[in-house]
Amino acid sequence: MKVDVILGLQWGDEGKGKIVDALAPQYDIIARFQGGPNAGHTIIFNSRKFVLHSVPSGIFRSNILNIIGNGVVLDPFIFFQEIDAIREAGFDPSSNLLISRSAHFIMPSHRLLDAVNEAAMGEKKIGSTLKGIGPCYTDKYKRSGLRVGELEHNGFQTEYESRREIHMKLIAASGVDYRGILLDGLPFDEYEQEWLKAAHKMKQFRIAATEIEINKSMAAGKKVLAEGAQGTLLDVDFGSYPFVTSSNTMTGGVCTGLGVAPSHVGKVFGIFKAYCTRVGNGPFPTELFDDMGELLRKNGNEFGATTGRPRRTGWLDMPALRYSVMLNGVTDLIMTKADVLSGLETIKVCDAYKCADKLYDMPDIPAGCLPDLIIKEMNGWSADITTTTQANQLPPALTEYSRFVEKSAGAHLSYISTGPDREQIIKL
Ligand code: IMP
Repeated sequence: MKVDVILGLQWGDEGKGKIVDALAPQYDIIARFQGGPNAGHTIIFNSRKFVLHSVPSGIFRSNILNIIGNGVVLDPFIFFQEIDAIREAGFDPSSNLLISRSAHFIMPSHRLLDAVNEAAMGEKKIGSTLKGIGPCYTDKYKRSGLRVGELEHNGFQTEYESRREIHMKLIAASGVDYRGILLDGLPFDEYEQEWLKAAHKMKQFRIAATEIEINKSMAAGKKVLAEGAQGTLLDVDFGSYPFVTSSNTMTGGVCTGLGVAPSHVGKVFGIFKAYCTRVGNGPFPTELFDDMGELLRKNGNEFGATTGRPRRTGWLDMPALRYSVMLNGVTDLIMTKADVLSGLETIKVCDAYKCADKLYDMPDIPAGCLPDLIIKEMNGWSADITTTTQANQLPPALTEYSRFVEKSAGAHLSYISTGPDREQIIKL
């Protein structure tokens, strides 16, 4: 069997958690391959809402094995907040969760470093979620990271302290006063004590060479779904650098983040919102600064699942979407939050960028050009689609919008999500 992939085609927050949860019954294994608690995957079922940060979105289905792959960075303190919430809801994650021994720990001092780095950048700051993602991946590639597998050896505390000492020297040298910085509401020392307790508690889960588990499972005919975090336009290589996250958020990241060969990648489900949002800083060509932007934020409840920050909003950006479809080899598109556009008389889409009278269908515009946008206006629809269950009951204007997007993006649209609940999804 091959590994299917679900990932975001925009700047994150496309609704990946809900879609993974909805498609999960078709799979035996759900695996996260990159990112960490900067992600916030929201799942709603039986009128209950869960926000997952590090745990894969198949965790609420006891017959599915959930894997945290080697490409993920893990903060045990935040991880146990999630685990506690899952247990309180009556689920037992210790029975269906497996963690890679090569996944890296986000240390409390990584979080301090993140805050200090952002403060030092001033106006040029990235707008990080401040979960320690960048400093943790920096240590990984510097070959000085602390990995989950270290828990299986004696001397974890010594390894931990040697890294903390280096981080503290860097923080002191930055000149930024870090003493007032709270981590999840706690002063550093208190957070560190809780973090260490949580790190040791992780031994209650199965820690393994997950790349072997995944490959053997595939060989035995098991179906695997790789769950992406963030979005393609935040990819460290192909996103709007430097306003990106520190991992490969695209299909290529599945291979390195799970230990799966490219020839074993199957379907690639690319998720996009019917409009665009972005949190943090960086370019956003179709951003709306007017009442329409506010309406999309309000109707779409566009506030970060991890940080609560208001998201920037704008119309769908086809050059960016085409680029993401190309980079990921998307076989199936999934449109989410179409219901947020219900009631609009007119819907706009950016079909191309224009710089010095030249049209661009992908974001390869000349450096320094602030592109004019070629906007296509389409009819909106007034019907409430949140209870619609069949494709042939969708408003004709939405069908027309979907057809335009799939033709223009160059990939088949397989599902439309019509609300946040597990059940609100239409197969086309
Ligand atoms: P970091 O990954 O926390 O360092 O954040 C880097 C950039 O990616 C910032 O602009 C964040 O707002 C953005 N970002 C990180 N994770 C997510 C996510 O899960 N959804 C949306 N944006 C994210």
